[in-house]
Amino acid sequence: MSDIPEISHIRSENRGGVLILTLDRIEKKNAITSQMYRDLTASLNSAAGDFGIRAVIIAGASGIFTAGNDIFDFLNAPAQDESAPGFQFLAALHEFPKPLIAAVEGNAVGIGTTLLLHCDMVYASLSAKFQMPFVSLGLVPEAGSSVLFPRLAGHARASEILLTGRSFGAQEALDIGLINQITDTPLATAVEVATIISEQPPTSVINTKALLKSKDHMAITQVMAAEGELFRIALESDEAQSAFMKFMEKRKG
Ligand code: COA
Repeated sequence: MSDIPEISHIRSENRGGVLILTLDRIEKKNAITSQMYRDLTASLNSAAGDFGIRAVIIAGASGIFTAGNDIFDFLNAPAQDESAPGFQFLAALHEFPKPLIAAVEGNAVGIGTTLLLHCDMVYASLSAKFQMPFVSLGLVPEAGSSVLFPRLAGHARASEILLTGRSFGAQEALDIGLINQITDTPLATAVEVATIISEQPPTSVINTKALLKSKDHMAITQVMAAEGELFRIALESDEAQSAFMKFMEKRKG
């Protein structure tokens, strides 16, 4: 076993009480590995209990948000149960008590789009491209998106997007209500808003977020558990395995 620590692909910066977590694995389009999920979960859990952190921003490095879950991990280290790093990250996101803001540029694939449904605010550039290709990969929606997304987009549009796997741009995301604003500088806008929030009375901010989410917090937890079970089964299915192999073959060829 090597003593050399693995390079972290999550950059973490505290800007005056605003924690910025940046997905930074540009050679793989910021695709998220198990280790990155662990790092994100640890950062969120630590920020939750740190009085000095008032808000968290999630961003992607080099003009792309994320290509979603690492497909090689889907093949080589599929989730076995709810303790899998991806599910733990989603649970930490769902339970996070302080304002969560996303700054999106470029592709936001799979969990790159579904995690936004757990953010309190999302700022995106015109280059942003959202996609949830779960069905195309032989999988099912996760992160509560099977309920949260149709609630935002309406059943007809959510069905079209989820069942065809088509992508959509920033303007459609704005129409749907997935994002707050299209801006040339999503990170700067996110920092600006997070800074205003960080100057508000912190307990009031936390209680207000809890109230905004209280109506269906438990229901979403249950949906996420049910989705997770189907997702784990789907990961091992022939449909998913052949989709993953096809992705890998394309890269080799
Ligand atoms: N998992 C693992 N590796 C990934 C990846 C992923 N989700 N997405 C991209 N990569 C890797 C590619 O294998 C390639 O690696 P290589 O240079 O070693 O061959 C590198 O990132 C660049 O990807 P490429 O496809 O050439 O970039 P692109 O700019 O043409 O396209 C995407 C970007 C995001 C549109 C495209 O990479 C893609 O569709 N990725 C898969 C998205 C996906 O299905 N995610 C799972 C969602 S559940």
